[in-house]
Amino acid sequence: MHAKVAVIGCGNVGGAAASALAPVEGVSLVLLEEPCRESIAKAKAADISQAACAQRRDLQITGTSDWAAIEGANICVVTAGRPRSPGMSRDDLLEANVRTIRNVALNIKRYSPGSVVIVVTNPLDIMAHQLFLHTGFPAYRVIGMSGHLDGARFRSLVAAHVGCSVREIGSIIMGGHGETMVPVLSHCSVGGIPLNLLIRSSQLRRIIYETRHGGGQIVSLMGTSGYFAAGACVADMVSAVLFDRKGSFCASVYAQGEYGLQGFFLGMPVIMGRSGIEKIVELKLNDREHEWLRKSAQKVRALSERACSIL
Ligand code: 2OP
Repeated sequence: MHAKVAVIGCGNVGGAAASALAPVEGVSLVLLEEPCRESIAKAKAADISQAACAQRRDLQITGTSDWAAIEGANICVVTAGRPRSPGMSRDDLLEANVRTIRNVALNIKRYSPGSVVIVVTNPLDIMAHQLFLHTGFPAYRVIGMSGHLDGARFRSLVAAHVGCSVREIGSIIMGGHGETMVPVLSHCSVGGIPLNLLIRSSQLRRIIYETRHGGGQIVSLMGTSGYFAAGACVADMVSAVLFDRKGSFCASVYAQGEYGLQGFFLGMPVIMGRSGIEKIVELKLNDREHEWLRKSAQKVRALSERACSIL
């Protein structure tokens, strides 16, 4: 198999995603930046190529600012736009990133009209929606990378608390990629054992709080968003598509009636394979989870509407 993956935006997250993608079998990479930052794309491509060489792997990778280079990409990973600074919420990036994402969407539509697009730019659910609207792609080909990262944060905290391997933990994180996210505890378990049988409720509340604020904590410690985990999540989702894994993920997807929601992007459990989103899974939620999801959806929908009114 040979697949071309375009990473659009080569800041910290784009660079980490490209580095995590480099070992994926059969992948060639195009790193794209705007013209005034083309040297960054070229430098990261050279660095990642040399890392592959050190590990005795052949890798085709280029850095460029020429949109034509993404022609025919199978998958486009969109990380373009500004990251958070300390004190900012993801939603504060709306004005700064909305036009960037529309420009990216038009170029993806022009040069890679058959691609599956994985969106990482924040505010995630809103940027995925804008990308969907401005490419005109079918909903199953536009995917926001959100719940996979939030789930990784949640599972790492649960594993540390219980003292088990992360491999034992199943988690579902729904809703917006922000502080209203919904850890669906009724579907989270360690080796099939419900979490509330293993972890006291006060500790579970702390784990939920730390998951919701995990991204922000990194921003306040480091001055910008985290990127290694985001890059790893991107590589895992890209592999699910390229190898048609039919893997289960939590991702931001276009709601078309699922969970009683419609017309915007929100985090839901999905199955991912060759065509992108192959299925949105409708789990049975309890009343509290439904209420949390409704509140999260309300916030995301309002911001999605505001984004549409920005010219
Ligand atoms: C995060 O949660 C960048 O949104 C990303 O760290």
